[in-house]
Amino acid sequence: MDNRAIGMFDSGIGGITVLKEVKKLLPNEEIIYLGDTKRFPYGSKSKDTIIEISRQCVKFLISKNVKLIIIACGTATSQSLEILKEEFNIPIIGIIEPTVKYIKENVNNEKERIGVIATSGTIKSGQWEKKIKEEVRNVEIINEEAPLLATMAEQGWISNKVAEYTIKEYMKCFKNIDKLILGCTHYPLFEKLIRKELKGNTEIINTGTKVAEFLKKYIKDNNIQNDESNKEYKIFLTDLDNNFNEIAERLLEDNLKTKIEKAEI
Ligand code: DGL
Repeated sequence: MDNRAIGMFDSGIGGITVLKEVKKLLPNEEIIYLGDTKRFPYGSKSKDTIIEISRQCVKFLISKNVKLIIIACGTATSQSLEILKEEFNIPIIGIIEPTVKYIKENVNNEKERIGVIATSGTIKSGQWEKKIKEEVRNVEIINEEAPLLATMAEQGWISNKVAEYTIKEYMKCFKNIDKLILGCTHYPLFEKLIRKELKGNTEIINTGTKVAEFLKKYIKDNNIQNDESNKEYKIFLTDLDNNFNEIAERLLEDNLKTKIEKAEI
């Protein structure tokens, strides 16, 4: 047993889609979430910058005495996970490994076409394609950078005309695919519009659900469950002057007034 909290970070609201799935599957785990709103967006920054800011996020969460850290961000996972794992003596889990594990266990045929939509930084890193191809043979990967979506999500533009039009444009290259990985944790906010555009039988993969399943098993295998029931979550933001509360409250169906604090990093 280990009753310490689980730490999570993202550049802003996106990781809340991961928190939501983890809370569903692991209601007894306490979560400390860090939204690095001061430095949003991560998707357009250089690898060196992402490594440096991810390092600071990890240090902040360690100072809160967490037992493990989830990088609830595709950009930070793809560019900094390996280095952070070497530098810190705490388990760190990103969003790619749990999702690739799921894909490996669920490919229907050898010629599956898998779409990946993510930030520019994530797509340029090539990590999704590399990790999927290491595990599954003969898949075709269709990559698409969608630099506008995370910013629109932070603004709460997730179902208006601009969102509809933008999703329509980004979905053009994903005709006749078997699976679409939402490789940025902000994108599940657009899931309804994406579903409408893709029609057909494409499976849309919200990485948060895969992280939650992976985490549940990890916690059990390592015997670090929280043995108290229904633990809360706490949110820290590096900048409080933004739309975060409103969107997060809608997403989590919860009043966050007492749960958000400023993080000084
Ligand atoms: N939610 C993040 C991701 O998964 C970051 C988006 C951004 O800050 O650009 O990539």
